[in-house]
Amino acid sequence: MRTFPWPFAVHVLYGAFSGMNHQPVLLQETLRLLSPRRGGRYLDATFGGGGHARALLETAPDSTLHAIDRDPGARERADDLEREVEGDFEFFLGNYDNLEELLPEGVYNGILFDLGVSSFQLDDPERGFSFKKGGPLDMRMNPEQGPSAAEWLRAATREQLVEAVRDFGEEREWRRVVEAILLAREEGGLESTEDLVRVVEGAKVYRSRRSGPVLHPATLTFQGIRIAVNDELGGLSRALPQAFERLAPGGILAVISFHSLEDRLVKRQFRRLCGEPEHAGDALPQQFRTRRAGALARRPITPSDQEISRNPRSRSAKLRALKKLTPDEEP
Ligand SMILES: C[S@@+](CC[C@H](N)C(=O)[O-])C[C@H]1O[C@@H](n2cnc3c(N)ncnc32)[C@H](O)[C@@H]1O
Repeated sequence: MRTFPWPFAVHVLYGAFSGMNHQPVLLQETLRLLSPRRGGRYLDATFGGGGHARALLETAPDSTLHAIDRDPGARERADDLEREVEGDFEFFLGNYDNLEELLPEGVYNGILFDLGVSSFQLDDPERGFSFKKGGPLDMRMNPEQGPSAAEWLRAATREQLVEAVRDFGEEREWRRVVEAILLAREEGGLESTEDLVRVVEGAKVYRSRRSGPVLHPATLTFQGIRIAVNDELGGLSRALPQAFERLAPGGILAVISFHSLEDRLVKRQFRRLCGEPEHAGDALPQQFRTRRAGALARRPITPSDQEISRNPRSRSAKLRALKKLTPDEEP
C-alpha cells in the first residue's frame, strides 16, 4: 500500500474540507441582474469555488459559461463542476487583467467579477492570507507567480509599505506599523503570518473599530499587503475596459467589491462608460463624454442583514452593474 507523508496527507484532507463554508455572496441579487437565459454566453472572471458559476449554469442550463481564475487550485474545482452540470463550460487559468488574450473570440451576454480572495484561499494556512492561522507569509493568489508577501516585504521601499498599509489597508496607525515592519525586516524576522501579527500587534496602540465589531489589530495591514502583493487595484483597472469590450450589445457587467478603493475604481469606470462625471471634481465638458452604457442601480446593492448573519464575510460587499447600450439606444 502506498503511504503518504503526514504533512502531505493533512494538507490533502485540509484541502478537501477547507472552503466548506464557502458561500457565494449576493447570489440572488447577482442572478437577478445578470438574468441568465438559455443559449446565452457568460463569463465568470473570478471562479473561486464556483458558487456563482454553478448557479448561472443551473439557472440557464443550455448556456455557455467561461470562467477565469489565477489560482491553480481553482482548476480542480472547475473540473468537478464540469462533471456535474450540463452546459458548455470551460475554465481558463490566468489573470483577468489579460482576459482579452486568455479567452476565445466572441462576446458575452453577462460578465461577473466577484473580487478579493475566496474562502478556499483564506482558510488554508499554507496560503498565508489569514492572521488567524499560522503559516508561511505568502498571500499570492497564484503561488507560482511573483514574490510572496515575505519576499515583497523584504524588497519594498518605505513608500510602497506606506501605500500598502495606509492606502490599501486604510490602517489609521500606519506610521507605527510601517516603522515596526522596517525594524523587523532588518532583524530578518518576517517569514510567517505569526511574525507579521506579532509585529503589528506590538506596534499598535488603539484597537481598530470600523462600523461593527472590533477588528483584529492585524486585519487592515494583512489586507493592504495582500492587495499590494497581488496588484489587485492595477489588475482591476486593466480588466474592466477589456471586459466591457467583450460585452454583447445589451450585455450586463456586474462587479462585487469588498473594499472602498475597489468600489471607487468600479464606480468611476462605470460612470465614465455611462457618460457621467467620474467624481465631484471631474469638469470635462459634457460634449466630450460618450454614453456607452446605463447603470442598473443608482446605488450599490449590499447584502441583507440575514445574509450578513449567515455569512459575515459578505458584510462589506457592494454590487454594481451596468448594461451596454444596444446600437438603437446609443446617442
Ligand atoms: C471571492 S472569490 C470568487 C468566489 C466565487 N464567485 C464563488 O462563488 O465561488 C475571488 C476569486 O477571484 C480570483 N482572482 C482574484 N484576482 C484575480 C485576477 N486578477 N485574475 C483572476 N482571478 C482572480 C481569486 O483567486 C479568487 O479565487
